[in-house]
Amino acid sequence: MTSSRYLRAVVMEGIRLHPPLPSFFRLVGKEFEVGGYAVPKGALVFFNAASMGVDERVWEDPLKFFPERFLAAGENAKLMAFGGGRRMCAGSESAVFILSYFVAHLVREFEWRPAQGEQVDMSAKMEIFMPMKTPLRARIVRRTNNTT
Ligand code: HEM
Repeated sequence: MTSSRYLRAVVMEGIRLHPPLPSFFRLVGKEFEVGGYAVPKGALVFFNAASMGVDERVWEDPLKFFPERFLAAGENAKLMAFGGGRRMCAGSESAVFILSYFVAHLVREFEWRPAQGEQVDMSAKMEIFMPMKTPLRARIVRRTNNTT
């Protein structure tokens, strides 16, 4: 396995557990029925990508950070954080590429530790975007064995 494939899996797993945009919507163009409910034309239907990302019917051990799941064929297709269909995120490939590049450099250049006396709290606030409930405070130290 190449390291870039694994790095991509790490980024996808991060987006699954912490989707920046937790929900998106569609305007219904034609009445339809789902789960016994009639959805009228003109309704706004919201998709909760944050819940879909941790749905135990779809993901095994959904709350576990386990990038390896994205090495399996077809796992990318389950990820709703980029939406779906014709209006799916047009920049999903760029986003994963840029984030991979960003993460790789942050890890390669620095050692990361929680700020003194603090613990990292990964819980999120449910807003239009999904920021950390407790902003990250970290002690970062430049890696000494890196001369570039
Ligand atoms: C982790 C980063 C990102 C996430 C999670 C994300 C997520 C989303 C989501 C959920 C939608 C709505 C999709 C839908 O309604 O089905 C969307 C739309 C869109 N995104 Fe992203 N996005 C990201 C980064 C980017 C980047 C970097 C770009 C541009 C380079 C981009 C360009 C767009 C565009 C143009 C649309 C509108 C597509 C349309 O309505 O046809 N996104 N994105």
